[in-house]
Amino acid sequence: MSTARAYPGDPVGKIVGVGRALGSRIVTNHDLAKVLDTDDAWVVERTGIRERRFVADDEDCVTLAADASKKALAHAGLEGDAIDLILCATSTAPESMPSVACLVGEAVGAVGVGAFDVAAACTGYSYAASVAGSMLRSGAARRVLLIGADAMTKVVNQKDRSTAVLFADGAGAVVLERGSGESGFVDHILGADGRMAPLGRAGHPGTGEKLYQNGREVFKFAARILPEMVEKLLARSGVNPEEVQYLIPHQANARIIQAAVRRMEISEERIVVNLDRFGNTSAASIPISYPDIYDELEPGRYIITVGFGFGLTWAANLYRI
Ligand code: ACO
Repeated sequence: MSTARAYPGDPVGKIVGVGRALGSRIVTNHDLAKVLDTDDAWVVERTGIRERRFVADDEDCVTLAADASKKALAHAGLEGDAIDLILCATSTAPESMPSVACLVGEAVGAVGVGAFDVAAACTGYSYAASVAGSMLRSGAARRVLLIGADAMTKVVNQKDRSTAVLFADGAGAVVLERGSGESGFVDHILGADGRMAPLGRAGHPGTGEKLYQNGREVFKFAARILPEMVEKLLARSGVNPEEVQYLIPHQANARIIQAAVRRMEISEERIVVNLDRFGNTSAASIPISYPDIYDELEPGRYIITVGFGFGLTWAANLYRI
């Protein structure tokens, strides 16, 4: 096992609480097949998704984000006033102003502190995690509430079978503390290329235009960029693939994950997959995974989170447990 480490600094941003919230309506492939020209076998085979969660009429991105945040704070044993920065990764805020982060602050009792949204589509959480890590490293924040939340059903045309079967609604939140330097983020990668913007857009709510994507091209891009980022993070940190306890990829399509994993040295049982239950919840898809793995985490090992999304955007984080 390699002991050489080339971190840019000590690990910073220990996860001390996790929580998730999902749309309250469980929607199976069979449910969708009643209203769309699709069937369970196609969706399972082409995407890996079996069911997903949609928001009810009285739920949206803000209610999901607030619910997940309250659970993360309770898990950490903290009140809202212990937080000094709120970051929410989202692209589906009910209104462009105020930000979801501001509204979450009000809901959890964290007022008077910095709060802003980070928009990088499905890559949002991975982007926001790098902002959180940097703010903690600089000393600008000591305890961050980091959220990924999206209500994708608000922007998806539910009559378009090529996207309606994929996207869903959820939020994941983590509480990060600056920590003692033993556990936390050690490296981040961020990328974007606006020349590929036509491959995926949310549409214009004002005109009723809904989400569009070129699924095949996004697929090919994702299968290439995910392993590239993982390889880069491992190479420049000196961390061995065997030291990675969990790799949490953005949950867009099981076939993308399989194609990416084939090009990595990380064995399949360490790849976290939950899209069979939750579909693609965009910025939430990585943080909603944490409640399932938190109690299993082994100090000294690593988690890699790796995402891609419209923009096109891509990002990854290396975290020492
Ligand atoms: N049920 C049945 N048939 C369908 C469905 C459906 N739900 N959706 C599409 N089809 C049909 C198509 O119409 C097409 O039929 P045709 O050959 O008669 O034209 C056929 O299935 C094959 O379509 P493809 O698009 O080639 O199918 P593919 O295997 O590529 O799967 C998919 C499509 C699932 C969209 C895949 O390309 C994918 O997952 N791409 C990545 C998308 C992605 O990751 N998006 C998230 C971006 S992150 C963000 O920021 C939001």
